[in-house]
Amino acid sequence: MQTIPRDSSLDSTLDVVREGFPFIWNRVRGLHSDIFQIRLMGQRAICLHGPEAAQLFYEPARFVRTGAVPRRIQTTLMGQDAVQTKDGNEHRCRKDAFMSLMTPQSRQTLMQQLAREWQAAAEHWTGQQQIVLFNEVLEVLCRAACAWANVPLPEKDARHRAQDFWAMVDAFGGAGPRHWRGKRARTRTEDWIEGVIKKIRKGKLHVAADSPAHVMAGLRDADGDLLSARMAAIELINVVRPIVAIATYITFAAVALHEYPAYKGLLRTASDDYTEYFVQEVRRDFPFAPFLGARVREDFTWRGCDFKKGTLVLLDVYGLNHDPRLWPEPNVFWPDRFRNRPISPYDFIPQGGGHYSGHRCAGEWITIEALKQAVTFLNDGITYDVPAQDLRYDLTRMPTLPASGFLMRHVRITGQPA
Ligand code: HEM
Repeated sequence: MQTIPRDSSLDSTLDVVREGFPFIWNRVRGLHSDIFQIRLMGQRAICLHGPEAAQLFYEPARFVRTGAVPRRIQTTLMGQDAVQTKDGNEHRCRKDAFMSLMTPQSRQTLMQQLAREWQAAAEHWTGQQQIVLFNEVLEVLCRAACAWANVPLPEKDARHRAQDFWAMVDAFGGAGPRHWRGKRARTRTEDWIEGVIKKIRKGKLHVAADSPAHVMAGLRDADGDLLSARMAAIELINVVRPIVAIATYITFAAVALHEYPAYKGLLRTASDDYTEYFVQEVRRDFPFAPFLGARVREDFTWRGCDFKKGTLVLLDVYGLNHDPRLWPEPNVFWPDRFRNRPISPYDFIPQGGGHYSGHRCAGEWITIEALKQAVTFLNDGITYDVPAQDLRYDLTRMPTLPASGFLMRHVRITGQPA
């Protein structure tokens, strides 16, 4: 039996907080091993890195998600007992509902809503001296996501609802005030969306068949029972909130356009595929999910290492995107690396890996399409000045953003949004 290398810390909880995104990756390099063990909040955990480990992590027979997501993340980011924490048939019922919203037709409707919102936002920005792109994009995405989901969003509420969706995401690696802000935002949002679900169920609010609100209001568990209105609300929020969170990647994309202006021309003149390489590189280079957690379903041995039932296992996401064995010069922003590079379900996992029937992100196609649209809009739809500002982002903060949120001045409309 092989012994799994052990991190020297008695308990690594503080190191995770101190090091943030590269915590696992730092140790993979230090211990020269893609697998090692730590103690985390007093319990033994195994950290995994690399495509083979990702393949193992996504074998449903090996791991469960029940009990893997800390309560503090459920009470802020994703909601309690949501799809992310389910296994087997319970997971399948819920995941099927999410995936039913991802048809080409449905995604196209969302992109049309987004195009309208970009246009309206650009008109508004032209009257402003300066805007903070991240805050503006939160609102663009929130309005479009609610319209697409058939969730009524009164004009006066758009800004604070968008901020609440973001506060839930922003809380995932936070403690103290950031965590409490996220919790309050979640309670407010769940109350609001539960009201929407109840109205739909009572026939007081008519929503389009197959719209996200309709699908989630009618969601049943594996026994065929209708989910409680609260639970249905939590899953409907799991559609809208992550769309709002794409603001992070859009802001990073704006940073990339600004810092590597040579790509602006290439995006205009090269094939459509180039926009895809560009947004894939945004998803690779810029951080969002640090790592993912699951628990061992039954004892097994992998590569001579013992995995005991119930052990917490963390899969490195950030490090996989920066491993030179997979990505030459990983710290260089270089979209062309995606040209002719086959991507497996396990070697590029910014939004989780494996197949969509498993826990891989339901909204990956939406994310890529929304990002492509945003990049085209920022490059061709408007021009703007970028004043001096602090664009650095802090890898010890999860999630992270450019410090300034990306300031833009003197926005002018130059073309039609995508
Ligand atoms: C799951 C990231 C956008 C819906 C996940 C996971 C990650 C992730 C890392 C966990 C995968 C796992 O546990 O194995 C992201 C990022 C996004 C994004 C970085 C963009 C900023 C979206 C969008 C949707 C969405 C737009 C919209 C519908 C979901 C759902 C799950 C999920 C429902 C749970 C899947 C499951 O447990 O089966 N996402 N996501 N995400 N995401 Fe996303």
